[in-house]
Amino acid sequence: VAHPVLSRWAQSLQASRSIVPARDLPLDFRPGLPDLSGFPVAVWRRLAARTLRRLSPEMALYGDPQGIAALRAAIARYLSQSRAVACTPEDIVITSGAQQGLDLLGRLLVERGTAIAMEEPGYPMARAVFRAMGARVTAVPVDGEGLRVDRLPADARVAYVTPSHQFPLGVTLSLARRKALLGWAAQRNAIVIEDDYDSEFRFGERPLESLQGLDQRGSVAYLGTFSKLLFPALRLGYVVLPRRLREAFLRAKWLTDRHTASFEQEIMAAFMAQGHFGRYMRRMQRVYEERQNVLMEALQRGLGPTLDVLPAKAGLHVSAWLPAGFDVEELIRRAHEAGVGLYSIAPFFSGRPRPGLIFGYGACSTADIAEGVRRIRGIIASMT
Ligand SMILES: Cc1ncc(COP(=O)(O)O)c(C=O)c1O
Repeated sequence: VAHPVLSRWAQSLQASRSIVPARDLPLDFRPGLPDLSGFPVAVWRRLAARTLRRLSPEMALYGDPQGIAALRAAIARYLSQSRAVACTPEDIVITSGAQQGLDLLGRLLVERGTAIAMEEPGYPMARAVFRAMGARVTAVPVDGEGLRVDRLPADARVAYVTPSHQFPLGVTLSLARRKALLGWAAQRNAIVIEDDYDSEFRFGERPLESLQGLDQRGSVAYLGTFSKLLFPALRLGYVVLPRRLREAFLRAKWLTDRHTASFEQEIMAAFMAQGHFGRYMRRMQRVYEERQNVLMEALQRGLGPTLDVLPAKAGLHVSAWLPAGFDVEELIRRAHEAGVGLYSIAPFFSGRPRPGLIFGYGACSTADIAEGVRRIRGIIASMT
């Protein structure tokens, strides 16, 4: 029997597929939502009840700003095994989602006018947080090998990147570019923020090892989150910090919210230590891979001439370009009327956007995906 709250969340997530992000401050930005229908609610409830029964003074008083040791140990094990991240539990700080990692790194690294380089198109929530701190965010183009490292601005002291699965275009940063990016950072004593937001889901090929794992100079701060694998309302993420940032980051964390809620950390630690995390991850990997295959096939077969679908081998979304001058907003409006949620790629651009779409398929069944593409095809046919 599904937990009542979680199943309500599942329904509202299904419904919110159709939310389109605002252009400037993306408060309602919800790309690539996960599926909750198969979440092991009974296991989570059992672990939560057990944690509550064991509520001790240590758990009930202020905790360690770094996060509980058991969760950091479980994350360190997972990251070394699956992402080739070079870390020990001491290098990890538990945060309230990846967004808090960005916020705290911004506090450490940004002063008014600090130049930060970001992929263009790139994650609007990162751009917004850096801009809010007074950073000058420079847009660096992305091509088939990922970030154009040769176009990084000379004055930047920070680069924010999504090398495993560029958000939103889906490209993987090539090994040559990874080395070039680390070389760029080492030369300038710059920090690279590696956002590995949906690294759990790679389809087909073996993933490239993390940028952090290649780094010899302590230039990379690695961000991870449980928002995509479990659910975003959990607000659990983590940062693997280079040694030189650790002390200042912990002070900023303590000053901001003292520490992330201990109760959820305890449940999450048990969920990982008892093998539920690994099992659920493998199961969802298969579910998402099938959904992505169905979507790619349907898009390429049904909309090939109009849509330039970008190759995708990971994650919970697929992106596609539309012809120049195409009225994307009108297409999205009509798709919503037909019950199909689509995102425009426009909010990911800081400059002039290229017309394009993002398809989030994580929370859609294969039947819904096929039907959704059929409806979009009808709308596009009437617009071209
Ligand atoms: C690029 C990127 N980073 C991070 C996140 C997750 O953020 P959080 O952990 O704050 O939910 C997302 C979620 O959509 C994302 O797309």
